[in-house]
Amino acid sequence: METIITGIQPSGNLTLGNYIGAIKQMVNYQNDYKTYMFIADMHAITVYQDPERLHKNIREVVALYLACGIDPKKVTIFIQSENPYHANVSWMLECVTPHGELSRMTQFKDKSSKHLNFNAGLFTYPILMAADILIYDVDYVPIGIDQKQHVELARNIAERFNKKYGETFKIPDVKISKTGKKILDLQDPTKKMSKSENNPKGVIYMLDDEDVIRKKIMSATTDSECEIKYDEENKPGISNLMNICSSMSGLDILDIEKKFKGKNYGEFKTFVADVVIKELIKIKEKYLEYLNSPELDKILEDGAKITTEIAKKKYLLVKERLGLYR
Ligand code: TYM
Repeated sequence: METIITGIQPSGNLTLGNYIGAIKQMVNYQNDYKTYMFIADMHAITVYQDPERLHKNIREVVALYLACGIDPKKVTIFIQSENPYHANVSWMLECVTPHGELSRMTQFKDKSSKHLNFNAGLFTYPILMAADILIYDVDYVPIGIDQKQHVELARNIAERFNKKYGETFKIPDVKISKTGKKILDLQDPTKKMSKSENNPKGVIYMLDDEDVIRKKIMSATTDSECEIKYDEENKPGISNLMNICSSMSGLDILDIEKKFKGKNYGEFKTFVADVVIKELIKIKEKYLEYLNSPELDKILEDGAKITTEIAKKKYLLVKERLGLYR
């Protein structure tokens, strides 16, 4: 059976982008792959996080995974910082990664321009991500398109390491959903919908109330035409709503164009709001049940145990390959 892994940073409230781009893919794949899903809490601290808030967010993200339908009987769920080998392997990979390759990462360029005194971890972040992936010899990494460059770096690191020190890592590939690869901000559809956005009007949070979701969708930026047609370049707002609609309803883009031929933007937005609300409200109800359940702790303890054993083996192999032994 092929293997997949993905992680999400608990650096804020999860968005519809995280749901469509990553979580929903995992829910669909969990029956067909050996699946790992984790909370990338060590990635989150590459920019300052209030410790109390971060601590709460970690549990909240796990509860959300479960509420979305990630089945702990099929998926190994764990917290990155509860497995000490990710950071250990990451250090060894740092020592085989050229500085120049890291400085080309567009997310680093973007984030470092926003955080003036950014820390060294923000720069080496993609190597920790490479360790997360390469430790488990996965075949695929389901992600949104913003993380593609990081997975490509992980591939480069693995290929280089294998060539220099002998076969050690499997080369992973990405899995990116066609309509969910990049959900855009509803107010500014030139940029990604992001949990770290300061203006919450353009961002649907997974735990938003029904009326808030509806309001955000109804006031989404569109264009002055009145045609529901997919055109990313000239109609980014409408195309974004079509992608959201397709991901949440299962209708494909052509079906949506047909269904709304001759209809106005208000009617289309109402439909989009309905399908988004229908799915997110169910998740929210389950989320509250999971949040305080002891089952959640048991799942995480099992996940930490299972993944620490696997990661330790890879750590020892990498160490040996590098000559780090007595
Ligand atoms: P993060 O926390 O920024 O995002 C989590 C996942 O959500 C996807 N995503 C989106 N997809 C579509 N549209 C959007 N607007 C959108 N916003 C976010 C992201 O692509 C991602 O799949 N570095 C990673 C976490 C990580 C990881 C890993 C992922 C750490 N180690 C190993 C996979 C494998 C991150 O910051 O994701």
